Formats: sequence, structure tokens, C-alpha cells
Amino acid sequence: MVVRSPTTRDALADALPHGQMLLAAPVGIVVGGDLDAAHDRQLSYLLQDGAAAIENLLLAATALGLGSCWLGIHPREGRVAAVSRILGLPAHVIPVAAVAVGWPGEVKEPRTRFSAAYVHHERRGG
Ligand SMILES: Cc1cc2nc3c(=O)[nH]c(=O)nc-3n(C[C@H](O)[C@H](O)[C@H](O)COP(=O)(O)O)c2cc1C
Repeated sequence: MVVRSPTTRDALADALPHGQMLLAAPVGIVVGGDLDAAHDRQLSYLLQDGAAAIENLLLAATALGLGSCWLGIHPREGRVAAVSRILGLPAHVIPVAAVAVGWPGEVKEPRTRFSAAYVHHERRGG
């Protein structure tokens, strides 16, 4: 769901306490999935597909020189209910997360959170 209307972006920002950038960003994209169309009708597959789509969206936005931020919705029930109401989603369409897209107000130095302690070779502890 691509949302450009300021009224709808305001309503989404109201529903997402950590999504206030939706007030300023010109576009919000709510990534959701249809449980009836998900592999084996499994919510877990729907969420994995949604997360992959969101990450691809963030990478594509960055490649275009845009700024973007992942704004979590699922599994917070209040957020799922509010976003579903705002966007008119039927119960079988699950909103996974919103992405605010705009022009970056600042450019931060790239950083990494890589830690070799979390990488295991062949089996845990290796
Ligand atoms: C599931 C999920 C939900 C997130 N929800 C929010 C959010 O509501 N508001 C926000 O500003 N950032 C949100 N983020 C973005 C993170 O705060 C963080 O900026 C992003 O994961 C980049 O990680 P890093 O800052 O460690 O590089 C979310 C990220 C994930 C993976």
C-alpha cells in the first residue's frame, strides 16, 4: 500500500509511535501480505516474505539516493488493528511494517555491527 496523502500519513504516524518521520516523508509504503495467498497459509512465511520485500525496498531506496526507515507494525496488535482500520484492510491481509521514504536530511557515516562472536563455523561453538 503506497500512501502519499498527508491525512493518511498523519493517521499512520498516530498509530506508529516510532514512526513520526511519516509526517515529513512524502511517501509511506505499508508492506503487507495476504494470508490466503501465503505459502501453506502460514503466517511465518508471510512475515519472512514481507521482511525480504522490506529489506529490498530499503536497499532500492538507498540505491536511488533516497532515505528510508523500517517502521515495525506486526506483531503489535494495537498497531496491526489501527493500520488495518486506516487502510481498510480485510482480516486476511496482515500489515507487516511501514517504510517511510523521502530525501535524507542527513547522511551518516556507514557503520557495521558485525561481531565475529555471532559467526559459527560448521556447528555452534565452531
Ligand atoms: C522489525 C523492525 C522494526 C523497526 N521499527 C522501527 C520503528 O518503528 N522506528 C524506527 O525509527 N526504526 C525502526 N526500525 C529500524 C531500526 O531502528 C534500525 O534503524 C535499523 O534496523 C538499522 O539498524 P542499525 O541502526 O543497527 O544499523 C525497525 C527495524 C526492524 C528490523
